[in-house]
Amino acid sequence: MKKQVILDVDTGTDDAIAIMLAILGKEIDLLGITTVNGNLELALTTDNTLRVVEHCEAGEAVKVYSGCEYPLVSTLSPKSAQSLRPLPKRAGVKMPYAIHGDHLPLPETTLKKQDKNAIVWMIETVMQAEPQSISLVAVGPLSNVATAMRAEPDFAERLREIVIMGGGDRLSNASSAAEFNIWADPEAAEIVLQSGCEVTIIPLDATHDAQISEADLAKIKAIGNKYADFTYDVIMERIDAYADRKADRDAPRSAPVHDALALCYLLHPECITKKADVSCHVDISGGVAYGRTVIDDRQYMETSEPNCTFAYDADKEFFFDWMYNIIARAEES
Ligand code: BDR
Ligand code: CA
Repeated sequence: MKKQVILDVDTGTDDAIAIMLAILGKEIDLLGITTVNGNLELALTTDNTLRVVEHCEAGEAVKVYSGCEYPLVSTLSPKSAQSLRPLPKRAGVKMPYAIHGDHLPLPETTLKKQDKNAIVWMIETVMQAEPQSISLVAVGPLSNVATAMRAEPDFAERLREIVIMGGGDRLSNASSAAEFNIWADPEAAEIVLQSGCEVTIIPLDATHDAQISEADLAKIKAIGNKYADFTYDVIMERIDAYADRKADRDAPRSAPVHDALALCYLLHPECITKKADVSCHVDISGGVAYGRTVIDDRQYMETSEPNCTFAYDADKEFFFDWMYNIIARAEES
């Protein structure tokens, strides 16, 4: 039986690829997509999500619900890096650097989001389903998921599992200490990590191990359908953005497609080649490490009881083949 999945996104280029592979791959029963503020403000992450759904010819079959417009608390502090105060009219968090344009390279869509709020829909859907039957793949800041957990105390235990793209052990991107999705709403991430749900974290350590190169992209482009063209355009945009970033200056031109690896893991856990059950918490102290995933591997301490599975390495070839085959098999009208 196919896994029943809710996809929580902040679309975004790599979210877009994850959504496309979720729809075209037909490997999951996609119950719906929920959107959150993150890479862009909520109206844009929602609009981009709808454009991808339309591009995949999924129409009304894949419903899109929008959720939190802000992180839970981090934007309230005038001193925090996430503070909105210098930009009062802009919703969401301030991106520390630009990697996603406002709109994906797709035409405007006539598809509309659902009237129901994402949090309400998620709670109703999970509470009405068989216990532990629904998997959640969360590839944006965890504001929606944490709000659902606070609003419905049984939400976490009714889920089968949560796969999160976020965090980093050796690597960071939004700050010197933190990865973007966790940095953008650190308190929400900590709520999710403390929820007792079965959580797997696909962090930067794994996604940077599975980077898509220009040569890989050329193979995808040669497939010659509209999904291949779209994949080429958005991943090339990512490769160009990464080429300007100091840490990757000497590496061959390539880019991680973070969020797609989280979906790949849900379906094919073998794409992760090294993982461990660890105690992981998020720094919410507001200092230089705000939003950092802190792993305690002191097995001898009672406080280091594992609360999640953390991925360290990925099988790049497996990930690429999975992506390639879905795009190559996809039918277009
Ligand atoms: C994560 O942050 C976002 O920019 C990407 O969509 C991804 O989910 C990577 O740090
Ligand atoms: Ca994302």
